[in-house]
Amino acid sequence: MIEKIEQLISEINNLKAQSAEELESLRLKYLSKKGAINDLMADFRNVPAESKREVGQKLNELKNLAQEKINSLKEAFEAKKAVDEKPDLTRTAYPIELGTRHPLNIVKNEIIEIFSRLGFVLADGPEVEDDWHVFSAMNFAEDHPARDMQDTFFVEAHPDIILRTHTSSVQSRVMEVTQPPIRIICPGRVYRNEAISYRAHCFFHQVEALYVDKNVSFTDLKQVLLYFAQQMFGPDTKIRLRPSYFPFTEPSAEMDISCNICGGKGCPFCKGTGWVEILGCGMVHPNVLELNGINSKEYTGFALGMGIERITNLKYQVKDLRMFSENDVRFLKEFEAAN
Ligand code: DAH
Repeated sequence: MIEKIEQLISEINNLKAQSAEELESLRLKYLSKKGAINDLMADFRNVPAESKREVGQKLNELKNLAQEKINSLKEAFEAKKAVDEKPDLTRTAYPIELGTRHPLNIVKNEIIEIFSRLGFVLADGPEVEDDWHVFSAMNFAEDHPARDMQDTFFVEAHPDIILRTHTSSVQSRVMEVTQPPIRIICPGRVYRNEAISYRAHCFFHQVEALYVDKNVSFTDLKQVLLYFAQQMFGPDTKIRLRPSYFPFTEPSAEMDISCNICGGKGCPFCKGTGWVEILGCGMVHPNVLELNGINSKEYTGFALGMGIERITNLKYQVKDLRMFSENDVRFLKEFEAAN
């Protein structure tokens, strides 16, 4: 029996396989239930007691060897197969997941689209601005608190160079090089030196709209506001205007819409009032027109500005502003359906 085992061991040591079928037939020959090794196992019963130990060890050695050999042949064979086969270049290496648009971009695009239906075109301006375009050209008095160190980020070496605190600066950028009619929509990022919390951030996003032409009136503004509100929040949305103050508009107003979370019945979001504030607006102050090279006797205009985060919150109820800038894909994925 020992001899038979020795013979099988040397046979197995020299095994080779060219194909998967060959390999499988070798496995059957040695390792299957009806294979050579199992036959020997069956004969083991008849081995005399004094040789059982020696034969048993040999038999185990054979069995392990056969198993290892077949496995290693299989591995070598598969490795060779992978090299031989031409790679399929049309296959993706891994499942590529599609990204999602950021909720602020989804809402920004929607706002742009609504205004573009009214003939407003996109305009742009720098985020690193000068004091003139952000404040002076927008009729802010020299000592206006908005210029305060607490609100505005200054570029250290240049007290005149700041990060814009609102997109109203783009109004000035456009008016100084364009004569009316002007009908622009300007989305962009703005910066304010605020402590970061769930409801405030040191940067956020605004959309500014400006319309300057002959005979532009407050009625035009009101109609545009109503159109925007109903397109954005649904045809049942109501608007209301409250008198307000901005240096660059006169008269100025803030617009509320009927709370689209509770439908105006009153809820925690609208603090039980049924109304939520969404934007500032007004008739462009004649000083602003003149400061930017437009004849205020000939032309009038209206302007409005809104925070994109605020509109997004109303549409999607994001409770913590910080979520917008954390790039947490679990949060971003929630907006897949809105893409
Ligand atoms: N710039 C204002 C702000 O940041 C928003 C604003 C109010 C813009 C009234 C306007 C406007 O164009 O007419 O709070």
